Amino acid sequence: MIFEKKNKKRIALLTSGGDAPGMNASIRSVVRAAVYNGLDVFGVYRGFAGLIDGEMKQLNARSVSNIITEGGTILKTSRCPGFMTREGQKKAVAQLKKHKIDCLIVIGGNGSFHGAQALGSVWGIDVIGIPGTIDNDLNGTDYTLGADTAVNTALQAIDKIRDTVHSMERIFIVEVMGRHEGFIAIRCGLTGGAEDIVVPEIEYDINSMCDDIRKGREKGKMNWIIVVAEGVTTAEDFAEKIRGNTGFEVRSITLGHIQRGGSPTAMDRLLGLRFGAAAVDAFLKGEKGKMVGVEADEIVLTSFELACEKCEKKMNLDRELLKLTRMLAI
Ligand code: F6P
Repeated sequence: MIFEKKNKKRIALLTSGGDAPGMNASIRSVVRAAVYNGLDVFGVYRGFAGLIDGEMKQLNARSVSNIITEGGTILKTSRCPGFMTREGQKKAVAQLKKHKIDCLIVIGGNGSFHGAQALGSVWGIDVIGIPGTIDNDLNGTDYTLGADTAVNTALQAIDKIRDTVHSMERIFIVEVMGRHEGFIAIRCGLTGGAEDIVVPEIEYDINSMCDDIRKGREKGKMNWIIVVAEGVTTAEDFAEKIRGNTGFEVRSITLGHIQRGGSPTAMDRLLGLRFGAAAVDAFLKGEKGKMVGVEADEIVLTSFELACEKCEKKMNLDRELLKLTRMLAI
């Protein structure tokens, strides 16, 4: 049952796509900033799938107590192919109208914002986005929620792997997440002291990598860690290539979904809290069809269309960091 108070604006909030540490901090911020500003706020459960089914509940300031430390999302999330169809969107819009929602706030990544854009351009629904994905693959924000925590989680794993690499003088291939992006691979690789990093955006030459390994061994450099982004190939496939080319012993590991879990870092909490309040502020200022983001530490708004485009600035930085990794691996 929905209790309506006259003239009170209503916002709904959902998380969509892969969960990311910091989403809960952002949920806390949206809910409390909304309540602070006299808005009614509804949580939609299980992302766009839950929106289609009308799984909505009013939230208050106490609904989000003690979640700031938690990974995942208390609203739950899903990937929803059904929402990409006209029929699915029609049902979602009907639910938003039924609940008299003035604006939908979507915390998610690239795929979620394609859906969010369709809600605005095709159906006239006001939507504000909050970038939440460990992949950091959105334009219009230097960082997305969860990316920093994921890098730190992968780094901790690499630090542990280094102990055995060093003790047994082995070559190790570590596969990290990031779909089509090398953000996690490059950050955890460079800061973990990896010898090389392989990412989808930048070409690599397996023969010259194997030459480097051979030359390294000749001059007494026995430890060799290569971080491979999942968008290129699997850790085991890459290990097989190196084994085949060099004849050396190679081990491989896929870090997988542990990179999506865990308590968010201070940076991801801060981002989540700033993004949440900024999204409510954007709604109060009449903005729609845009994602909040942070550039050079300032909150900015970017259209969903632009947010989903490739980011040249990020690719240039990745190239620079990869060059640094290779230079330091002498
Ligand atoms: O989008 C975040 C992400 O973790 C990617 O890095 C990865 O490719 C994908 O999600 C995995 O998705 P799923 O959890 O659906 O297997």
